[in-house]
Amino acid sequence: MNKDAPRWPLPKHDYWSTPFAESLLQHLDLRPGLRILDIASGHGIPAFYLAEQIGPTGEVLAIDMSAGQVARAKAIQGSELPWLQFECMDMRSLRSDLPTFDRITGNLSVMFFRPNRFQTVQGLVEHLAPGGQLVLTFPSYGTFDSLWQSVDQAMAQQGLIKERERFQDYLKERPSAQDGRCWLEQLGLERVGAFEYPLEVKTGAGQEFLYHPLLRGGFLDDVYECFENQFLAEAFMKQISEAIQGFTPLIAQRCVLSGWNKS
Ligand SMILES: C[S@@+](CC[C@H](N)C(=O)[O-])C[C@H]1O[C@@H](n2cnc3c(N)ncnc32)[C@H](O)[C@@H]1O
Repeated sequence: MNKDAPRWPLPKHDYWSTPFAESLLQHLDLRPGLRILDIASGHGIPAFYLAEQIGPTGEVLAIDMSAGQVARAKAIQGSELPWLQFECMDMRSLRSDLPTFDRITGNLSVMFFRPNRFQTVQGLVEHLAPGGQLVLTFPSYGTFDSLWQSVDQAMAQQGLIKERERFQDYLKERPSAQDGRCWLEQLGLERVGAFEYPLEVKTGAGQEFLYHPLLRGGFLDDVYECFENQFLAEAFMKQISEAIQGFTPLIAQRCVLSGWNKS
């Protein structure tokens, strides 16, 4: 493996993707010449890092469903690392003509395996070469639980019955580390591990919380979606945002799932 300082390191100032990718790399067996499929590749974390480490004798196919993300990744790549290819593809239904890979990685991917997460993992394992390794990360059950408890209590106190029912359904649907371990074991993978590392997400009150780049897109929007009346949602979330002492420190669980195909 390349021992020089990487030219394509994980971005230092990314406080979400990078810590998850660091956990992924901690469990990934990475060597020159590997053929890697990186799913939910976004704009290239950790695809660029992986490509540099495996070198020109290997191959990385990085796939994402969003054409915008793929275009962004290709713009960053320019003519560098020609053994790394970004393609627009849905990881839940991989093209049947895809070959098998020595490694399949997916940073911050499992939450998008809906509606049938097990089936998605099964589809991935079908493209894992004998003796190959699958390593996936996601924020697992328990992530931001202090916030969800505050939201749930406030909904109960304010008699938001329908909204609370939808919110409870959302909470129940989140995958846990244990769910992930079971999928990999049921699919016959070996040396299966599900590891969790806490990650604190810092936020201030009010607008800083409501428009926090990590919280708004993937998490707070899920609470807004529990409301039919978006004016009510705004007012409710404003109250929550002003009472952050009730749910900070805000802790995410970085979960890494790892398993090996039989040789
Ligand atoms: C949270 S981002 C993670 C991106 C990158 N791996 C990182 O760590 O920064 C999740 C990515 O998954 C992509 N995605 C969501 N559903 C997908 C699907 N069904 N197939 C492929 N990509 C998908 C999104 O477009 C997005 O770029």
